[in-house]
Amino acid sequence: MSILEKIKESKKFENFLKTKTGDDIFTKAKLVNEILETEPYTGNEGLGMISMDKLKGEYEIKEKNGDIHPVIMLGSNSYLNLSTDERVVSSAKEALNKYGYGMGAVSNYAGITQLHSELEQRIATFYGTESAIVFPSGYGANIGIISALCSEGDVIINDSANHASIFDGCKLSGADIKVFPHSDMRALERILSKLPSEQCGRLIVTDGVFSMDGDIAKLDIITGLAKEYNCKVMVDDAHGLGIVGETGRGSAQYYNVMDKIDLHAGMLSKSPGGLGGYCAGSKEVIQYLKLYARTYFFSTALPASIAGGLNKAFELFETDTAGRKELWEKINYLKTKLTQTGFDIGHSQSAIIPVMIYDEEKLFPLHYELRKKGLYTNIVTYPAVRRKECRLRLCVMKDLTYSQIDRAVKILEETAKKYGIIN
Ligand SMILES: Cc1ncc(COP(=O)(O)O)c(C=O)c1O
Repeated sequence: MSILEKIKESKKFENFLKTKTGDDIFTKAKLVNEILETEPYTGNEGLGMISMDKLKGEYEIKEKNGDIHPVIMLGSNSYLNLSTDERVVSSAKEALNKYGYGMGAVSNYAGITQLHSELEQRIATFYGTESAIVFPSGYGANIGIISALCSEGDVIINDSANHASIFDGCKLSGADIKVFPHSDMRALERILSKLPSEQCGRLIVTDGVFSMDGDIAKLDIITGLAKEYNCKVMVDDAHGLGIVGETGRGSAQYYNVMDKIDLHAGMLSKSPGGLGGYCAGSKEVIQYLKLYARTYFFSTALPASIAGGLNKAFELFETDTAGRKELWEKINYLKTKLTQTGFDIGHSQSAIIPVMIYDEEKLFPLHYELRKKGLYTNIVTYPAVRRKECRLRLCVMKDLTYSQIDRAVKILEETAKKYGIIN
């Protein structure tokens, strides 16, 4: 079977979670593994596995046949290169030497050090809230926050492009889930205006910067509607933290509504370069989450080395010395070049730039070819977005050089022309 036939076949993927009556629970695993055996999914071991010397900022990819070759990296969320920043790494090393490499207990038992408390305090200060909680996983943060605060009888209103972890938290909560089309504020208002009055617990939850589109939630309108319809607002600003807004305080700062957000959630794995998730809010709510967010209460605390590195990252954010302005120069440079070359890059307002392909049959071979030519991008299709809106996702990093960006655009241009994506 050809690559393209296999891809078409892989549309079964969409239903792979729905085992038919009589199917063994491992049937879906068999199907997925068969698909993974086909060319476009292989080439490198796993879709995104790379060998690299990150500390030197050099990225290499190992192809399935053993070939190792350098790539220009446009697929990392460490936008400010803080995961390898000397200042951050040395703070992490200091903590590693002092506390060892694992915490050995959940936060509420013996799992946290003063570095964890310091980090929570820094996050609260950063957002101007009373308190903050740090979860050992970003995905787990959204699940824990939402499922602890909402339950049956409440309603949670979601942007359709929200991250999977938000939807999973909503499902787990048992609350009624409403979804409006991406950034459609009229649709949001329609939903709000029809809510039965007995649904008194109301939460609007949204990504700040949307992870697959790079645009920013219209928080000015959302917070206005929330006030009118008596809803609480939670923002997951995983991709806005440290980058968006006048001093990098994220999407809410961009719209000047920081004090109108009830729950400032976010991830410590993207621009801060570490791991984990957080929520900043009122003292009362944060204290409640520390006892009732199950992904906090029942999960081992973040390693102290990560907390140590993150304290340094937040110190850099506080003083706006993490390289945000330099990153924006590179983002704007790349965006201009891509637009001039004729690419459809959607409405990006962040370090995430989608390059729309709209045709999955071209997407996989195109991505593969880019990689072989030395350009690493993220490949995005179902289940992250609808198949017909498939795309490449380019993530800009501060330490990219202008000549690397020029070269990346050249590779993209040449290859996209070959596939008829641009003229
Ligand atoms: C918007 C958003 N929220 C949550 C997460 C989960 O964060 P983490 O990867 O740190 O678990 C991600 C990352 O994939 C994300 O993009």
